[in-house]
Amino acid sequence: MTDVGRHPNITLHTMSEVVDIKGFVGNFNVRVLKKSRYVDESACTACGECAKVCPVVYPDEFNAGLSSRRAVYMPFPQAVPSSYVINMNECLGHGCSKCADACDKNCIHFHMSDEDFQVTVGTIIVATGLEPYDPREMDEYGYTRYENVMTSLEFERMVNAGGPTKGELICLKGRQTPRSVGFIQCVGSRSRQKGGEYCSNTCCMNTIKSTLVLKEHYPDMEIKVFYIDIRAFGKGFEDLFNRSRQMGVQYVRGLPGSIEELDDGSVRVAVENTGTGRIEYHDLNMIVLALGMKPSPGTQRLQEMMGLQLTPDGFYLEAHPKLQPVDAATRGIFYAGCAEGPKDIKESVTQGSAAAVRAIRLMHRGVITTEPITSEVIVERCVSCGKCATVCPYNAIVVDTKKKTPAVVNTAACAGCGTCAAECKFDAIVMNHYTDEQINSQADIMLAENAADKILVFACNWCSYAGADYAGVARLQYPTNVRLIRTMCSGRVDEKFIWNAFAKGAPVVLVSGCHIGDCHYIDANHWTEKRVQKIHKKMEKMGIRVERLCLEWISAAEGNRFAQVMKDMEKLRQGVTIEEIVETIRILKARKKKK
Ligand code: FES
Repeated sequence: MTDVGRHPNITLHTMSEVVDIKGFVGNFNVRVLKKSRYVDESACTACGECAKVCPVVYPDEFNAGLSSRRAVYMPFPQAVPSSYVINMNECLGHGCSKCADACDKNCIHFHMSDEDFQVTVGTIIVATGLEPYDPREMDEYGYTRYENVMTSLEFERMVNAGGPTKGELICLKGRQTPRSVGFIQCVGSRSRQKGGEYCSNTCCMNTIKSTLVLKEHYPDMEIKVFYIDIRAFGKGFEDLFNRSRQMGVQYVRGLPGSIEELDDGSVRVAVENTGTGRIEYHDLNMIVLALGMKPSPGTQRLQEMMGLQLTPDGFYLEAHPKLQPVDAATRGIFYAGCAEGPKDIKESVTQGSAAAVRAIRLMHRGVITTEPITSEVIVERCVSCGKCATVCPYNAIVVDTKKKTPAVVNTAACAGCGTCAAECKFDAIVMNHYTDEQINSQADIMLAENAADKILVFACNWCSYAGADYAGVARLQYPTNVRLIRTMCSGRVDEKFIWNAFAKGAPVVLVSGCHIGDCHYIDANHWTEKRVQKIHKKMEKMGIRVERLCLEWISAAEGNRFAQVMKDMEKLRQGVTIEEIVETIRILKARKKKK
């Protein structure tokens, strides 16, 4: 931290909040609100005289509330900058002014105000961290009722040499060193009812480390760990687990059902030991709840500002789990640490380094190479309706609907999904390399002969087309009359393509793409879904059976599913008669003439 604070090329904005982000790779405009600290950080020498005289006492957040601090305080000993701060919500203000009187360097200024400023940056690394699970929700563990039930965070502060007890472990009730300690794993993790369904990744190893620390300091201490299963999958982790067991730590497979306090302040844990199948009772002086991790509270707000994607667990979704694990789907934005999922220190450092290098790689040239697959506006046709800008997942299109100026595509921000081109009713957007003509020509040639025998499939490049590939590589059998047209995203599948396919005699058409939430262009496939629903309604009105147009989500790993969907499509195709196809062609011709 100190190095970061001193680095000539790094500007550290502490106590600052990002309030808005606009722009695109190479040119992000970030609005920042810097909260006032009411202490001149350049003059403060952190002597602490102000805190000595401050009459206001509050629990110290850094020590998990196990010690107190004043309204003027140092957030934590290693804070950068090394300066005190006043919490104005707690401070008595001018009426008191004791801190200002005590400061001989005149660092305290009650009139300071928040600062609102903008910075322009080329890339952004999102490192929003995590939030520990709030155990008050799990009342069966008695965290709110029993003093000797504490969280892993409180335990960490207590056994830390710089913590409130200078590293000595003491029971909050009774104030003596515990003779026995129990750890309960997965508090707020791997649970459908409370907390998250995901594994928080670090709790098992953190508990194992804690048991080793305790055994080193208190060799005679009785230590029990209640767990579902121990996940010690990192380098050297299994050795630590074995060492912990060899040192006498008892691992009980099963999560406690209830905890009751005994007269002497210790607690009785009732647990079904799934190893033996018996209900057991364990009397322990102290219980430590191994808390799971949650995404940090600001995650969603930042996600909305930058148009990022979230996983169902609420963490940020990476562009590709294997090939782009630190990239966001929006170019120029990267993730580090727990923003993208629970991680331990080693993983966070690895990901942080990777994100920094990815960002530098983009910036060092000073220019950005845009992808060839981007959209382009035909100015003469654009009526400035603004639909393209509304559907663009990357905010890459700007239209002034009031001044009626034609849409402008920022090719640096455009990722090439083609949703804008598919949604433009005026054919005013061309999707380079996936133009209407190119796609319709493919359909025309595929349906030129024996159209009634063909199954026409529009498959998105990243999931469904890859799923087809997987089915092929795995030698899975599916009907040979399937004809695939690849688009970058299912969002590119224009209504016109469907009408063209039916007009050329296609008995059935399938639109397929990534599962909802997995689209490689943020949420472009939501528009696919809406569009297909709209086409279904039109088909109904025209008297064309809606079953003939299908929408399926098939991922790259679902080769089996791809084969099965194709078999289902073949059954559907067999149910479409020549008369039905001919009638559809007639209806569509009549519709075209009317237009
Ligand atoms: Fe597959 Fe969008 S990339 S549906």
